[in-house]
Amino acid sequence: MANPSILILAGDGIGPEVMAEVKKIISWYGDKRGLVFDVSEDLVGGAAYDVHGKPLADETMAKAQEVDAVLLGAVGGPKYDNLDFSVKPERGLLRLRKEMDLFSNLRPAQCFDALADFSSLKKDVVAGLDIMIVRELTSGVYFGTPRGIFEENGERVGINTQRYTESEIERVARSAFELAKRRGNKVCSMEKANVMESGILWREVVQRIHDEEYPEVELSHMYADNGAMQLVRWPKQFDVIVTDNLFGDILSDCAAMLTGSLGMLPSASLGAPMENGRPKAMYEPVHGSAPDIAGQGKANPIACILSFAMALRYSFDQGDEASRLEKAIEKVLAEGVRTADLMGPEGGTAVSTVEMGAKIIEALDASL
Ligand code: IPM
Ligand code: MG
Repeated sequence: MANPSILILAGDGIGPEVMAEVKKIISWYGDKRGLVFDVSEDLVGGAAYDVHGKPLADETMAKAQEVDAVLLGAVGGPKYDNLDFSVKPERGLLRLRKEMDLFSNLRPAQCFDALADFSSLKKDVVAGLDIMIVRELTSGVYFGTPRGIFEENGERVGINTQRYTESEIERVARSAFELAKRRGNKVCSMEKANVMESGILWREVVQRIHDEEYPEVELSHMYADNGAMQLVRWPKQFDVIVTDNLFGDILSDCAAMLTGSLGMLPSASLGAPMENGRPKAMYEPVHGSAPDIAGQGKANPIACILSFAMALRYSFDQGDEASRLEKAIEKVLAEGVRTADLMGPEGGTAVSTVEMGAKIIEALDASL
């Protein structure tokens, strides 16, 4: 059988630096665990724009459709801020999500013990936190039409459309219930059914999928604004949160920051199963391209490495190896090894991006 394939799209800013460490981890799995991947690389975002005049070449899009998993670094930077909307770096990312039909975006918010002091919330509110936001990723107001800036009665009007079909809600609801079964068995669905018809439909459909297919999972519904408040008040009340594209964008940033460092959080974007049974998939850190620190060896590679751990778990059915990698990272953090973003008043051993990668590999070696 052919080796599983990975397409690396490192992108812009700190993307290439953090991805360089992921590549070492991928090689480690080949050398030490016999898990050999066929790795290829290509451009996305501003890096692709510089070469092709657009943020994702058609050939790159075609490759992404072929591989077992895409690993993406980050896109964007000040150099590209004034580009036309249609060729901005973000459009490359949105095209990948849409054309691969990656409707289910898994964004864990997990608080590492060693970092609980970093949260802006009290330690007991966040210590041990482990929640998963499932964000619908291919529809809603991000993609609905009509959209645009139009002339109306002598002035301009900006329009975006929130739109969800029943089947779009059904599939992301199933994905959330399936995950919950393997975790704390609890789903909270968030929308604004008090003001939006799309929210009313969302609530009805999630409830129906629950009643018909997952009655054993505990389901609750919350208005998204209350959800934001509850996330900050007592986040441990949640296990899996399922929500739409825009609310998910906002709530996941909020949840991420609860854990103290955006530099720590991975994500998986999953679609329907391919012929080989694996889901179409793209993995990326939640953080952005951080142009202010790019090229200085300061970036924290952990979110990107944890994204590869998610690939091991969700694309390659290697849950034990994913746990090995996650434990190696916990160990390194517990030893006080810190990239700049993790350096607090209690101090620690300051390391660069490359040194953090090397420490994690040492911990992986020690796990054998
Ligand atoms: C995210 C980002 C993206 C989004 C941007 C970069 C297009 O904020 O993945 O959360 O809004 O989805
Ligand atoms: Mg976002």
